[in-house]
Amino acid sequence: MSDETTIAGRTYTTPRYIVHLIKSISVGSGPMKLAAAFAIVVGAMLDLSAGSAHAEGDAAAGEGVFNRCKTCHTIEEGGPPKMGPNLHGVYGRQAGTAPPGSLHSGKLEESGVIWDDQTLTEWLAAPARFIKGVKMTFRLTKDQDIADIIAYLKVNSPDAE
Ligand code: HEC
Repeated sequence: MSDETTIAGRTYTTPRYIVHLIKSISVGSGPMKLAAAFAIVVGAMLDLSAGSAHAEGDAAAGEGVFNRCKTCHTIEEGGPPKMGPNLHGVYGRQAGTAPPGSLHSGKLEESGVIWDDQTLTEWLAAPARFIKGVKMTFRLTKDQDIADIIAYLKVNSPDAE
């Protein structure tokens, strides 16, 4: 399915359809054509990695990351809200449907968001950008931490598939 391709002295492993794409674009080459082909290939590879190569989450490591959430959240079933809501079962649930914490804004429930890999990833990287007006200012900056905490939230969500 994939092939090694050398462009501008660097070797890339690319799915075969992209190799065909490059070859078809660089026919009759010339520097501009090559540059264009290169841009397309790099773009395609970035797309692929965005779609498929999301860091694998590790729930055990996520438990460690959760230490940073504990000031504001509990995770055990029936745990009390703190500043934020209890997060047991949050994966697969609609935002804002757990008993609210003391810093409740009302924006989560208005958002209609369902918490899954994608929505949690965006939320944890930048809560107030993902849902305007929310009161969670804490965010995670490392993709691996985000993947790990999502895996941890998932194992603490009995209804998640
Ligand atoms: C400083 C306090 C604070 C920290 C730290 C914090 N949160 Fe929050 N979180 C909140 C608040 C407050 C809300 C509710 C926001 C609102 O209502 O505007 C919230 C909401 C959430 C929600 C939405 C819950 C729902 O039921 O819709 C998720 C998911 C969440 N936080 C995950 C996390 C995770 C995971 C961490 C740690 C990586 C974390 N939070 C760290 C304060 C915090």
